[in-house]
Amino acid sequence: MTPMKRAPSRTQWTGIVFCMTVVFAASASTAFAGSFAQGEAPAVADDATVDPEAKPEGRDVYLGRDVAKTMHWRGAKWLLRETRENEENGELLREWLDVLPGKAVCDLGCGNGYHTLPLAEAVGPKGKVFAVDLQPKMLEFLSERAEEMNINNLVPIECTVDDPRLPVDSTDMVLMVDVYHELSHPVRVLGHLRKALKKGGVVVLVEFRTEDRGVPIKIRHKMSKAQVIREMAANGFRLVKETDSLPWQHAMAFGVAPAVDEAHEARELAQGFLAAMAGDDPRIVLPYLAKTVEVGGAKDKTEEQPARELAVAIGKAMKIKPPIPKRTMIVLEADGKDRWAAYLTGPPNLEVMEQRKRLRIEKDSEGRYVVSAWW
Ligand SMILES: C[S@@+](CC[C@H](N)C(=O)[O-])C[C@H]1O[C@@H](n2cnc3c(N)ncnc32)[C@H](O)[C@@H]1O
Repeated sequence: MTPMKRAPSRTQWTGIVFCMTVVFAASASTAFAGSFAQGEAPAVADDATVDPEAKPEGRDVYLGRDVAKTMHWRGAKWLLRETRENEENGELLREWLDVLPGKAVCDLGCGNGYHTLPLAEAVGPKGKVFAVDLQPKMLEFLSERAEEMNINNLVPIECTVDDPRLPVDSTDMVLMVDVYHELSHPVRVLGHLRKALKKGGVVVLVEFRTEDRGVPIKIRHKMSKAQVIREMAANGFRLVKETDSLPWQHAMAFGVAPAVDEAHEARELAQGFLAAMAGDDPRIVLPYLAKTVEVGGAKDKTEEQPARELAVAIGKAMKIKPPIPKRTMIVLEADGKDRWAAYLTGPPNLEVMEQRKRLRIEKDSEGRYVVSAWW
């Protein structure tokens, strides 16, 4: 996108949209408003030159994140490695999921069934598990294991890259463990999932933590919480529950957002961006940025810089380090033209408030919200 050459003055921004308390480290109880009405899909253009998801190969990048390649079925044995329980604690995850007998759940990207089979036991004979995967070989391995364990409440579904082929209004929970970051068509898949969920149903994403450098997984196969929230919010989902208790992953449950609220995405973006900045890691910051942004706003600071350098420069300029005081707020001010200014405010006399730095959020040519300037 084209960078703005001069930041608007504060008086050009009219109308405080809202303030909200920001809890940077853990936002388990934060309820978010949504961006789409229930069941309504975001517009998807048919023209492959406009919409990357109109092409079979799909996206390389989504909202600034590099999309990972699908794990090949030849690596399926790795999914059942002996060390996995120590690394991921699947049992603890399933305890947290609290899947009850009689429920209909989906293990999307089920692979050879590390979670599918225990889930099938949890829902019992009156429930069912939609076991969905792209690769027929994975489903073959799964059915062999199910047969050995005498499990017969699975509904195997061979899906396509952009459609999990779940029946409408059929599912209480869709679980994706180490899968979402591989979706080449995330917008289309999430659109189908909104329709497949029963009322009150949730989509649960379990991803290796980008925030944790100690997790020995390639960066493309990790996601930050801020990025997960951003992508889900952009597709009409709100965070309802999350846990940080797993060894290497975070698990986040999303419900369908109830209301159309355009300001919501800007709020998520501001919150996620500031949280990413507090972590001072350019890899997490970059997805929020427009290709180039303007730092400073003063006449002599308008030169464009590559996003990576900017991420580092902005991090230094902001000097925002955790912990952020609990009563800190993000204020969003709208100018009525798809643009917002965001800044921190909160308890008086705190150093962070002195900074009063502002970021500008706006829609780019593809309708994504990005941080386009900082001043
Ligand atoms: C890393 S494996 C994880 C398997 C399983 N969830 C587990 O935890 O053991 C990722 C799986 O997601 C599947 N997958 C990738 N993209 C998919 C899509 N668009 N729809 C369904 N499955 C997909 C792959 O075929 C692969 O089996």
